[in-house]
Amino acid sequence: MKMKKLFIALATLVAGLSLAACSSGEKAQTPLEKIKEKGTLVVATSPDYAPFEFQTLVDGANKVVGSDIMLAQKIADELGVKLEVSTMNFDNVLNSVKNGKADLAIAGLSVSPERSKIFDFSEPYYQVGNVLLVQKADAAKYAKVEDLDKADLAVQKGTTQETYAKESLSNANIISLTQMGEAVNELKNGQVKAILLDSAVAEGYIGQNPDLAIAKLSFEEEEENAKAIAMPKDSGDLKTEIDKIIAEIVESGEYNQYLEEAAKYTVVE
Ligand code: ARG
Repeated sequence: MKMKKLFIALATLVAGLSLAACSSGEKAQTPLEKIKEKGTLVVATSPDYAPFEFQTLVDGANKVVGSDIMLAQKIADELGVKLEVSTMNFDNVLNSVKNGKADLAIAGLSVSPERSKIFDFSEPYYQVGNVLLVQKADAAKYAKVEDLDKADLAVQKGTTQETYAKESLSNANIISLTQMGEAVNELKNGQVKAILLDSAVAEGYIGQNPDLAIAKLSFEEEEENAKAIAMPKDSGDLKTEIDKIIAEIVESGEYNQYLEEAAKYTVVE
């Protein structure tokens, strides 16, 4: 008898609770529904990483362009919302997704196990490798890790390259800089000896700076450096939708077209 009473009491409680849950509002919105209702897709990026995202001059005014920005625009168009590009230093990009200020981060972002614990990542849209950017005269000088002993090696703050350098190139004197442009200036004027960065970005700098080159030293283990979009954990239908768009633009070669298009702009630091 006691058990039965307890059961009824519990059942009443459960019924009451679920009623309260229902009356306090409709079913919770999914991440995708929320963006559609807002009517704006906020994308966090750090525009110092050509050809992915960078600044250029359009009619005398600074404008953020690049293959990632075209990707962001494509996603906004497909979702039927406006795109708002929110720019900041790279070491703030992921935070702004974490604290809900941005819906997505598209910033030449590499997928890493540590980041995957905190964020959902889309399917990858581009592969690059890590390279060492040096002055042309030094290209042969840096051929193995030991050659970096005590050398001033710049990395961008908050990047996977910073983590990698601290773990695997700790014989060098690692210098973390906030802006990639700053690192390149320091390399050109001899304040640092090398920069560890993504190959596509290094090639862009070499194109504009014939005094720079990629060092002989290569990084096998980092060869599969996949670029993907970061979004909050459990992004569910938003991730599904974004993965669908990425599959399309990778397969059709559209992302490569974005890269070609981006290469036509002049980089403004
Ligand atoms: N591979 C790097 C990372 O994911 C570098 C990205 C830097 N991006 C930028 N927009 N500066 O950490």
